[in-house]
Amino acid sequence: MAALIIRSPLLSILFYYVLATAVAAAAAAAASNVTSDEEYWAERAEEARANNRAAYVSDPIAAMNRFNTETLRATTRRSLRRYQGPCAATNPIDSCWRCRADWATDRQRLALCARGFGHKTTGGAGGKIYIVTDASDDEMIIPRKGTLRYGVIQGRPLWIVFARDMVVRLRQELIVSDNKTIDGRGAQVHITGAQITLQSVSHVIIHNVHIHHSAPHSGGIIRDSKRHYGLRTRSDGDGISVLSSSNVWIDHVSMYRCSDGLIDVVNGSTGITVSNSHFTKHDHVMLFGASNDNPQDRMMQVTVAFNHFGKGLVQRMPRCRYGFFHVVNNDYTHWQMYAIGGNKNPTIISQGNRFIAPDDPNAKEVTKREYTPYSEYKDWVWKSQGDVMMNGAFFNESGGQNERKYDQLDFIPARHGSYVGELTKFAGTLNCRAGKPC
Ligand SMILES: *[C@@H]1O[C@H](CO)[C@@H](O)[C@H](O)[C@H]1NC(C)=O
Ligand SMILES: *[C@@H]1O[C@H](CO)[C@@H](O)[C@H](O)[C@H]1NC(C)=O
Ligand SMILES: *[C@@H]1O[C@H](CO)[C@@H](O)[C@H](O)[C@H]1NC(C)=O
Ligand SMILES: *[C@@H]1O[C@H](CO)[C@@H](O)[C@H](O)[C@H]1NC(C)=O
Repeated sequence: MAALIIRSPLLSILFYYVLATAVAAAAAAAASNVTSDEEYWAERAEEARANNRAAYVSDPIAAMNRFNTETLRATTRRSLRRYQGPCAATNPIDSCWRCRADWATDRQRLALCARGFGHKTTGGAGGKIYIVTDASDDEMIIPRKGTLRYGVIQGRPLWIVFARDMVVRLRQELIVSDNKTIDGRGAQVHITGAQITLQSVSHVIIHNVHIHHSAPHSGGIIRDSKRHYGLRTRSDGDGISVLSSSNVWIDHVSMYRCSDGLIDVVNGSTGITVSNSHFTKHDHVMLFGASNDNPQDRMMQVTVAFNHFGKGLVQRMPRCRYGFFHVVNNDYTHWQMYAIGGNKNPTIISQGNRFIAPDDPNAKEVTKREYTPYSEYKDWVWKSQGDVMMNGAFFNESGGQNERKYDQLDFIPARHGSYVGELTKFAGTLNCRAGKPC
């Protein structure tokens, strides 16, 4: 507040009047009618459900096959040769943009590059470029112009970029509205302190940022969009929390050491891709489906591709409930307990990954079924195809033996796991310079 420079005394009085009124109204709302915020979010969830239904695909095998076909095509010797020199895009997402010297002046091209279940995600495409110039995060109700929080609550599509290297220390969860891209290319941007929340929204891209040391917060009055602010209860300290949202793409992020999960996808969210990212130093990595009591998570369709699950990870890469999960061409170099797990009959298709088991003889199994007897989980469709198993790693398959629906003959094989080193070579944040291929 003190840093705000307002030259006209009249404007200044007006500004403080508006602010005081907002704070008073919010406090009154919080004291007397908390349920209006609950109603607001219930309404938002209801609206989001229509978008989520539209993002859901009735034939996930076809979507999976399309992903694999594109990867095979983009990684033939011939197409890889085209990207030699300073640029070395090694998978179809990267080869869509990284080898172009004009990425900084044509940033929105990225919106064409998503693959997998989140492939339709356009983020802030079609909107203006908004430049974050101010790393602070002091105002939760009327965020200051120039901050990240000001950008993410705007009511129109916006492509958010950063003026320089910066560390944005969030004071409370950052609530992102529809049609936004957070694009950290060209700078080293760290987002820390609290979680990024995507609640009942669609079309969000989070790209090329470091996300770490997110902590829980007790909540308070926070603006979530141009037209609304209200009382938020506790946030858990996830890295990114995706609730009842669709068309979300998380690409080239580096994530570590958050309080809760690194990425949670819950409450019927669908149409999601997590790609090219680097995860380290964390226990609960990714939770897809938070509760046995959320059968609406059957709609969940998530692609996890070209990621590197690295040093210091323990479990949940991911842990799944109910939905359909294509886990393809990832490099699993470290886990302490297990890599992929879940319960409540999720469908997990693991293709072309590399699994390097830890030395612990009790942690060689890639998979883990939580709290379920064999008599029940034998029917869950968990398939491994073209995965590379190292240091004693093994994937315990189940289900589908008699089920035409998941006959492996219907699967187009992914690029084999022996290529994973190449495919994930640039996982995590990149160091892009304007005017040069990245
Ligand atoms: C709380 O807010 C809702 C919706 O704005 C309204 O319908 C209701 O009457 C309010 N209740 C109280 C006690 O003010
Ligand atoms: C948000 O993006 C979607 C998909 O590109 C588009 O259909 C929709 O109109 C956009 N919303 C706004 C407010 O522009
Ligand atoms: C999650 O889904 C349940 C059931 O559909 C709903 O009641 C609840 O409001 C949702 N929560 C959020 C945060 O969207
Ligand atoms: C693998 O799964 C089968 C059933 O599909 C089970 O009988 C067996 O114990 C499992 N193996 C290990 C090592 O967990």
